[in-house]
Amino acid sequence: MSDPLFTSAEQKRFDEQIAELLTHYPQDRKSAAMLPALRVLQTLKGWLPPEGMKLVAERLETTVPHCYEVATFYVMFHTEKPGKYVIDVCTNLSCALRGAEGLLKYMEQKLGQTAGTRTEKYFLRETECLASCGTAPCFQVNEDHHENLTREKVDRILEKLT
Ligand code: FES
Repeated sequence: MSDPLFTSAEQKRFDEQIAELLTHYPQDRKSAAMLPALRVLQTLKGWLPPEGMKLVAERLETTVPHCYEVATFYVMFHTEKPGKYVIDVCTNLSCALRGAEGLLKYMEQKLGQTAGTRTEKYFLRETECLASCGTAPCFQVNEDHHENLTREKVDRILEKLT
């Protein structure tokens, strides 16, 4: 038998947070709460496991495919287990002009993986503008933003990721 999706504490948090969310939406439009409901699940589990997607669909009175339609539109939602740290490296224009591509190559060599691949520890990927063009180049590690990056600064940040 497979492990349950949630611990009892997680189940309680999921139930309470989804119930609270639904108080803000009409009874006949529960699926309008999709984005925050997916966020609740991902915050609890670190990604959107299939069993969790089923629960979200049930609570929002919609279908599992509808949950995936929404989740797969947004890069910040993970429908596959992403690794402990998701590193989003901006390679858009301002960051590219300030060396982002070289920095990404440096990180690929350092981590031993190419952008777009995941290991248990890292999911390294290129991303679109992180709205920090004035302090390029930048990346995010999970939801922590880092800017004015240099190789030395990248080294220091990565060293802290245990
Ligand atoms: S181009 Fe990188 S933050 Fe805008």
